[in-house]
Amino acid sequence: MKRVSLTQYLVEEQRLHNSIPAELRLLIEVVARACKTISHAVSKGALGEVLGSAGSENVQGEVQKKLDVLSNEILLEANEWGGHLAAMASEEMETIHPIPNRYPKGEYMLLFDPLDGSSNIDVNVSIGTIFSVLKAPEGMKEPTEKDFLQPGSKQVAAGYAVYGPQTVLVLTTGDGVNCFTLDREMGSWVLTERDMKVPEETKEYAINASNARHWYPPVKRYIDELQAGDTGPRGKNFNMRWIASMVADVHRILNRGGIFMYPADAREPDKPGKLRLMYEANPMAFLIEQAGGAATNGKQRILDIQPGKLHERVAVFLGSKSEVERVTSYHNE
Ligand code: AHG
Ligand code: MN
Ligand code: MN
Repeated sequence: MKRVSLTQYLVEEQRLHNSIPAELRLLIEVVARACKTISHAVSKGALGEVLGSAGSENVQGEVQKKLDVLSNEILLEANEWGGHLAAMASEEMETIHPIPNRYPKGEYMLLFDPLDGSSNIDVNVSIGTIFSVLKAPEGMKEPTEKDFLQPGSKQVAAGYAVYGPQTVLVLTTGDGVNCFTLDREMGSWVLTERDMKVPEETKEYAINASNARHWYPPVKRYIDELQAGDTGPRGKNFNMRWIASMVADVHRILNRGGIFMYPADAREPDKPGKLRLMYEANPMAFLIEQAGGAATNGKQRILDIQPGKLHERVAVFLGSKSEVERVTSYHNE
């Protein structure tokens, strides 16, 4: 089998569709290289002294794990000097990170969740990295948070890495979704799945059911119907999976179909959900739509939401199109 590397894929994509300018290609390669470094640290575990808490909290009041902090540093360092970026933003940093003046600046802006699934780090369950790429607004001089507040439909690239039994990188630049597997011995990303499509037919759903008593009626109705199985209105049995790492749940859905939900609920009525719009929901929604699926906040398409602030949260329903449309229609009834 002829092996196609990430570099070769990006160069060919540029030649064929003119969709990946050199600066964007550099950006993607640098992010992929950073993910390789994170993957290496993750795989060392206790031997690399990377497990456990960092003893600090992020802006969302969550305890930071050592790997949250380390992955954030790896991504910042890797992306600072290349000249492809104007600024970065991360789950782990309260404010945006402009490129220091000692480096040239580029026209892209990078957002990331450096380590997704933090609660799984110490128990050796799949975790990952999520990223989203925007273009700096025309004429931007000194980047501010406001420049980042663009709807997800403006993303020019998005992707995630999963550090699991294999390390994979799933990428879109708006022309379908492709999956690369890390060849650890060679140190290279190899294209292993072209043009991924979310299977339309599904019998699987993902939701943290421990919150069931807090769910609002549309979610409760949808899940009740799934759980009623072949004797209920859906006429078939559904199985449930919840990994508690969005990357791993989304990766399963891209490969096998299904629906992922993290709804808003009555615990904190003012909170629109748990997941963050700009570096979790938007990149995943872009990937899922590019693979033929759908992503909403229960009412509207996630990619259409105009963000109001960098760390804004959002309810998420994504995956197989007909399922997402159904639960969305229950919200809109
Ligand atoms: P992070 O580790 O970046 O904070 O994200 C964790 C997210 C997401 O990956 C996962 O689906 C969800 O939180 C799990 O939440 P529960 O612990 O409520 O199940
Ligand atoms: Mn996350
Ligand atoms: Mn995270």
